[in-house]
Amino acid sequence: MIRFGIIGAGRIAHTFAQAIAATSGKIHAVASRDINRAKSFQKAYGIERAYDSYQALYKDSAVDIVYVATPHGLHEAQMQEALTYQKALLTEKAFTLNAAQARGILERANAQNVFVMEAMWTRFLPVIQAVQDVLETGTIGPLKELHATFSFAGDLNKAGRLVNPHLGGGALLDVGIYPLTVADLFGTLDGTITSDVKQTDTGVDGWNQIHIHTPDSKMVLESGILEDKPRHATLIGTQGRIEIPAFWSAQEAFVYTHEGTLITHINTPHVVNGFEYEIQAVIDDLEAGRIENTIMPHATTLRLLDVMDQLRQSWGVRYPSEKV
Ligand SMILES: NC(=O)c1ccc[n+]([C@@H]2O[C@H](COP(=O)([O-])OP(=O)(O)OC[C@H]3O[C@@H](n4cnc5c(N)ncnc54)[C@H](OP(=O)(O)O)[C@@H]3O)[C@@H](O)[C@H]2O)c1
Repeated sequence: MIRFGIIGAGRIAHTFAQAIAATSGKIHAVASRDINRAKSFQKAYGIERAYDSYQALYKDSAVDIVYVATPHGLHEAQMQEALTYQKALLTEKAFTLNAAQARGILERANAQNVFVMEAMWTRFLPVIQAVQDVLETGTIGPLKELHATFSFAGDLNKAGRLVNPHLGGGALLDVGIYPLTVADLFGTLDGTITSDVKQTDTGVDGWNQIHIHTPDSKMVLESGILEDKPRHATLIGTQGRIEIPAFWSAQEAFVYTHEGTLITHINTPHVVNGFEYEIQAVIDDLEAGRIENTIMPHATTLRLLDVMDQLRQSWGVRYPSEKV
């Protein structure tokens, strides 16, 4: 049985721990900077070991793979350290602050023959795969427009991970990665890109809107941490459209004709919370001895980070560790 170790007992670590029950794996250990938080997490999920340091978890030979559930700005250093202990890695999005950091990690992991994947769970959801099938069968015709918005009213406490540049704050890395993922999945990132941004007073992007134009299509992607907006994706083809409510965690999608008649309601409720699909895929890879996942390969992580680098550069948003 594949045994996970979690570093960082925050919000998403709980989501992960709830989903593991629907997979064939288990959580062997959790590490927190605060031993009391580690122990209460351990108790809540019946975990064997609780550590007060991440390094102690890397040293535990019973941990097959580390789930990195910490803020973006810390991922690279944590993954580098875990790799010194030959640990496989499942790392929350955004994988690293930029593509250069990601290339360093992925090259090292490949050289060590170690599995690494960015935890972009959306790509593993059955409804996303069903929408891909609908597009491939031509039901709505070639895609001509795509709209995806993920904006919410976040915690703007300056020390918090959402706006703190030292932790890799900003809407793009936190939630903008989802509209970009939808564009990459169903359209393309390979077009002319223009964008608008609103910066926070901490110097990260609080809101952004990205336009990607190709000769045949246009995509409008919006993300923000400043205000709540309808979080929705719409794919418009020449013959119809697909609506995907809450697209990053989608459980359903609606396929319409050009005239607006519902053709198909794709309905695939999560078994737990939707994380179970990516976790099981990672377990299958590890059991088969693979070092890369085919649904979320390394090239996809790099492709999105390259675009995010380009966008941040055009906005003048640089993280402190990039300024040396
Ligand atoms: N897939 C998704 O749907 C989804 C949703 C939300 C977030 N995420 C991703 O998950 C990661 C964590 O997000 P989250 O919402 O879980 O954040 P969070 O609730 O703030 O938890 C992050 C954890 O990281 C640890 N940490 C270590 N050093 C830290 C530092 N200097 N400052 C703050 N925290 C530190 C802390 O755990 P200890 O103190 O216990 O060590 C903290 O609880 C991010 O990459 C985020 O983008 C993914």
